Amino acid sequence: DIYRASTTAPVNIAVIKYWGKRDPKLNLPTNSSLSVTLSQADLRTHTTASCSASYPKEDTLLLNGTPQDVSGARTQACFRELRALRTQLEGSDSSVPKLATLPLKIVSENNFPTAAGLASSAAGFAALVRAIANLYKLPSSPTDLSRIARQGSGSACRSLFGGYVGWEQGSASDGSDSVAFQVAPASHWPTMRAVILVVSAAKKGVSSTTGMQTTVATSSLFASRASETVPRRMAEMQKAIQEKDFEAFGKVTMMDSNSFHATCLDTYPPIFYLNDVSRAAIKVVESINAAAGRIVAAYTFDAGPNAVVYYLEENEKDVAGLFKSILEEKDGWKGARGEKIEAQGA
Ligand code: DP6
Repeated sequence: DIYRASTTAPVNIAVIKYWGKRDPKLNLPTNSSLSVTLSQADLRTHTTASCSASYPKEDTLLLNGTPQDVSGARTQACFRELRALRTQLEGSDSSVPKLATLPLKIVSENNFPTAAGLASSAAGFAALVRAIANLYKLPSSPTDLSRIARQGSGSACRSLFGGYVGWEQGSASDGSDSVAFQVAPASHWPTMRAVILVVSAAKKGVSSTTGMQTTVATSSLFASRASETVPRRMAEMQKAIQEKDFEAFGKVTMMDSNSFHATCLDTYPPIFYLNDVSRAAIKVVESINAAAGRIVAAYTFDAGPNAVVYYLEENEKDVAGLFKSILEEKDGWKGARGEKIEAQGA
């Protein structure tokens, strides 16, 4: 017999960034974070998990057709946790098939460039964890699954929910309270949109994992970001979302992106994720907002040069329109693609 289950998980783009681990093994963060889950139609990972006694003994993972190493601690942690829950379910009930001990075969497809700073690990681990949970018919809640997905990649815990999603840093040393939670469903503020400016689809220079470890060890800005700036902004951001206040949402989004990249520059040796095209994108957003006389567009950058610009549907013409005309006109933007993504939840 072959047992099989499939799922998809969307990409999320943080507006308050996770940067720093207090426990690198469990991916326990030094600050809470908050993201918007993008529409599944645009950026997502589709994953099928299967298991069978007829499979070769080793677990396997295929990503976009290429075999991946599953021996890493993060993938192993996810497999181990899910198998333990399945073993519990099987108990001594002989009518429940014994799946926990069977080899797993995971097949994943992204519909976007991997490791381009487009949060591919987030959608990837979220889909992997949910696919196996479905395969094992686990009664686990999204919160439970977020605790497992976090161990695969920190930001993955936020992709288990749609809409506006927080990740509570927690304080327990075993990570039991470091989980994702939904701040609001996508339907609460359905006119939110995002355009992604793909400056480079190349693999990023410094991985988030390495980068944040170096930041924690060397940056003097880091401590105040984690202990003062982010906690304050988490509260401001949740209020902005509750009140659907785009000006507040946009301002906090841009300031937190700037704070994160300043902390990267303050790392020794310094980490540069933004390039000249990224900085030009910031200028474009500033000119859009200056022309509107208020904040109608907000940029944010993860661990790479690609800009994500949030805006409301009613300002589509001003924001996405201006970006498109600039992309067509300016030589410096050659190779950059504007991709419109609907920032609606799962
Ligand atoms: C800048 O979740 O990729 O995108 O836990 O080491 O896998 P690991 O890191 P990862 O880091 C994401 C960093 C970020 C900010 C964010 O998504 O919150």
